[in-house]
Amino acid sequence: MSEHDNDRSSGGYHHHHYNDAKHQQLSQYYKQNTGYNKPLTSDTGKKISNDNWSLRAGQRGPTLFEDHHFYKKQSHFNRERIPEKVVHARGDGAYGEFELYKSMRHVTRAHFLQEPGTKTPVFTRFSNFIGSKGSKDTAIDIRGFATKFYTQEGNYDMLSLSFAIFSIMDAMKFPDFVHAVKPNPKTGVPQATVAHEHAWDYVANNQEIAHFIMWLMSERGRPRSWRMMEGWPVNTFRFINDRGQSTFVRFVWKPVLGVHSLMLDEANIIGGVDPDFHRRDLHEAIECGAYPEYELGVQMIPEGEEYNYNFDILDDTKLWPEDVIPVEIIGKMTLNRLVENHFAEEEQSSFDPSTLVPGINFTNDPVLQGRSFAYRDTDYHRLGTGNINNIPVNQPIAEANTNQQDSYVRHQIDVDDVNYKDNQLAGNTPYVTPPEQGGFSHYPEQVQGYKTRERPGPSFYDFFSQARLFWNSMTHVEKQHIIETFIFHLSYVPTKGIRQQVVDMFASVDQGMAAAIADGTGVNPPEGSHVPVYDSSPGLSEANTPHYAYTQKVGVLINDGFHGEEVRHTLDTLKQNGVFMDVISDHLGTIVGSDGTAIEVNKTFTSTYPVLYDSLYVVGGRPRHSEASFRYDVMDFLHSAYKHYKPIGLATTGQHFLRPTHENNLSGVVFAASNPDFAHDFVHAIACQRFWDRT
Ligand code: HEM
Repeated sequence: MSEHDNDRSSGGYHHHHYNDAKHQQLSQYYKQNTGYNKPLTSDTGKKISNDNWSLRAGQRGPTLFEDHHFYKKQSHFNRERIPEKVVHARGDGAYGEFELYKSMRHVTRAHFLQEPGTKTPVFTRFSNFIGSKGSKDTAIDIRGFATKFYTQEGNYDMLSLSFAIFSIMDAMKFPDFVHAVKPNPKTGVPQATVAHEHAWDYVANNQEIAHFIMWLMSERGRPRSWRMMEGWPVNTFRFINDRGQSTFVRFVWKPVLGVHSLMLDEANIIGGVDPDFHRRDLHEAIECGAYPEYELGVQMIPEGEEYNYNFDILDDTKLWPEDVIPVEIIGKMTLNRLVENHFAEEEQSSFDPSTLVPGINFTNDPVLQGRSFAYRDTDYHRLGTGNINNIPVNQPIAEANTNQQDSYVRHQIDVDDVNYKDNQLAGNTPYVTPPEQGGFSHYPEQVQGYKTRERPGPSFYDFFSQARLFWNSMTHVEKQHIIETFIFHLSYVPTKGIRQQVVDMFASVDQGMAAAIADGTGVNPPEGSHVPVYDSSPGLSEANTPHYAYTQKVGVLINDGFHGEEVRHTLDTLKQNGVFMDVISDHLGTIVGSDGTAIEVNKTFTSTYPVLYDSLYVVGGRPRHSEASFRYDVMDFLHSAYKHYKPIGLATTGQHFLRPTHENNLSGVVFAASNPDFAHDFVHAIACQRFWDRT
């Protein structure tokens, strides 16, 4: 059930003092170049006397090669860029901590999962999958959600995606899938989208992707915020306890604020008017102490029970329905600190699913097996060195002693003269640690068989059952959005035969859905019908997620002459409920109410857009310049918010902007006129977020 609860914010934002082991370690590397008594120098420490004019032979003469300050300044600059990540290029991250709620000792010996209350420093990087580093945050795309736990027993990287499932059944297909969704190799377009022919040619001819496409076409493909998005490591891992027993496990991050999304055209428009929408949102939240929080859940299947299900636990195109295998919440991550330097910490961060700790192991999931090689390999190329874990963000807080040597830019100065194993000269150190004493070991799973390229089991041929389970779990509104999103994307596919193939393929998910897509995209109705799956999994629908007013963003449309007491009370109530606000008018500066109340304006109608707000508070007032243009601007915002089903509050001075007619039902519109509870009612509406019954 939807939970419209504003109470969690009643204390306002929480502030927090951090001084964890990772922060202390990073502090050693902070370098300040500006400030009192800071002369400009070369990188070798020589003071510079002129940083504006190059050294020339004569006042109007050519620059001299001898101007080493000029050429070093230029040549260092020329080398600033490194290759962007081959996928997940666009991202941003923050530090924080993970706190364990309950001991998982019975299933795993992982140190950070033993004692309730244990806090582990973390760094989390959110990313888009398809687009380049310079693309847009709100692309219709799957997101990455990669967390590095700096545990006492070494780093543990948990790489999640915003979907519970992935697009391929074997890592072999990854380059094909990525090539197909990335820009056309000939033209280099389009950027950060699957609205193009290659993507759908791939889909139609690699039908194991059906379930993934259902998620991508749904609300899940366009999160409102990284703070309101789930994270799924997708692949099946193993927990290993101190008796060596194994339990299959899938993890999930559940955002405390619930899972919420943008509408298709909002996401498309925001991509242009604020390409940094998600990173701006993360910064805003952390800077004011509204720290993003995610609870960690586990789904577990004991070794020996892996064949009890109608899906294969090694198949990452299938999820483990929460109704069948419950999610057990075991802890919470709080992100409370932004990076100091985007390149040094975010761009140089390196994640790798094989960065494991004792107590967590791989399974034979064929995608996971391929991933164990891919990440370190790509980072050798991208970061250009073997010394990836010398980079401060990647350094463990646990002591690392290796026999690895040299490579580009080795910062650490290894002072030993013995660098091999086994040895006598260094007392055979660094020594190996047996598993019983905390050394990492691989689960001694028994394997036998012929070398083969066969599928691991018959359910690896079932592409549609869970895609239909997903469809069955959607509300009517969510189903309509899926159909629209298909039509939007297929409208960018000129070859009719591909559109037809896609429609025929998705008839296996739902006949009616495919017929509606056919209708919208000018192809024949599908011939086949869907697979006979009747169950649903309610947790997959965003209708069943918590809803809060906390951190929802309100645009306040206001001008001079507003009703001072009414507006002050409303804004105070919004603030007490942790609602974010922009005050928008036709000019920056201060505006003054009827009783002399002054309010600072931080956005103008020309510098912001209605799609950037979750709801509007329409106050109105006396325009500074033109009555007509103020009215048009307010009406533009109102139209957009109204059509996107957003909550709208109208002050007594603003009520004339929106009137009941025989065509509208004004659901989610709250009037202040003769309503002493307006502020409270408006906060309640903000918590509801969308009013889908609006006409
Ligand atoms: C269930 C499947 C998968 C999950 C959960 C997943 C997750 C992620 C995440 C979260 C990132 C971003 C890391 C960051 O923020 O730096 C990433 C990057 C990447 N993934 Fe995956 N991925 C999956 C499948 C694959 C497969 C099958 C391959 C290849 C065999 C692959 C190769 C890569 C590569 C090369 C990068 C870029 C890493 C970098 O340059 O730093 N992924 N993946």
